[in-house]
Amino acid sequence: MRQKIAAGNWKMNNTLEESVALAQALVDAGSPSGVLTILGVPYVYLDKINQIVAGAENIEVAAQNAHQELSGAFTGEISVKMLNSIGVKYVILGHSERREYFGETDELLLAKTNTVLGAGQIPIFCCGEPLAIRKAGTHITYVIDQLKNSIFKLSAEDFSKIIIAYEPIWAIGTGETASPAQAQEMHEEIRKAIAEVFGNEIAEGTSILYGGSVNAANAKDLFSNKDVDGGLVGGASLKADVFVQVMNGF
Ligand code: PGA
Repeated sequence: MRQKIAAGNWKMNNTLEESVALAQALVDAGSPSGVLTILGVPYVYLDKINQIVAGAENIEVAAQNAHQELSGAFTGEISVKMLNSIGVKYVILGHSERREYFGETDELLLAKTNTVLGAGQIPIFCCGEPLAIRKAGTHITYVIDQLKNSIFKLSAEDFSKIIIAYEPIWAIGTGETASPAQAQEMHEEIRKAIAEVFGNEIAEGTSILYGGSVNAANAKDLFSNKDVDGGLVGGASLKADVFVQVMNGF
């Protein structure tokens, strides 16, 4: 059975005090049985929040990015070695905001993925198409190409450790969600493509999350699809009571 995952992506939001309160409320609520909850925390709070969730079962933290080099003269950047030294096990890579605002390419993201895996951490690898591509009807090819140009180049052993997040850009932070059928269609195509490259067993074992305006009201409908193994949630992960409902949406 594939791992069910409720991942929050806090992005560049909240003070330390607000972050601590949010994490504590989620720890108090607890991750539902069989669900892995992962919190995508800003770098400066990762250590603190990791200590807060340490006692809770099935709640982990993720960094929202990492540099492809292990150390060196890269002012302002954070390495996987640093993340390892504070016990961070998950790293979100290739979010569309990183791709769009920070020029992250498929090639760079493959390098980052290799570095993260090399550190023994698990990448949550994002893909997804812009609105114009969706309107043109070429979204499936677009997303599969993103994967072909990056993580499909990994060894089967490395690929099998990865979590994928499909996040259509037109649905991120817009309040417009992909319909359950649209999400299922893409997830099924991604799984088919994984099977073609790495075989059925790995395809069936890969958790594929949906992201883009997931909230308390739509999580159940999205997560009930055969190939949707959970969500990567932005806005709705910032309010404890709302995110707890998402965590319970399986
Ligand atoms: P959203 O963000 O839930 O606010 O749309 C999702 C994401 O960017 O991961």
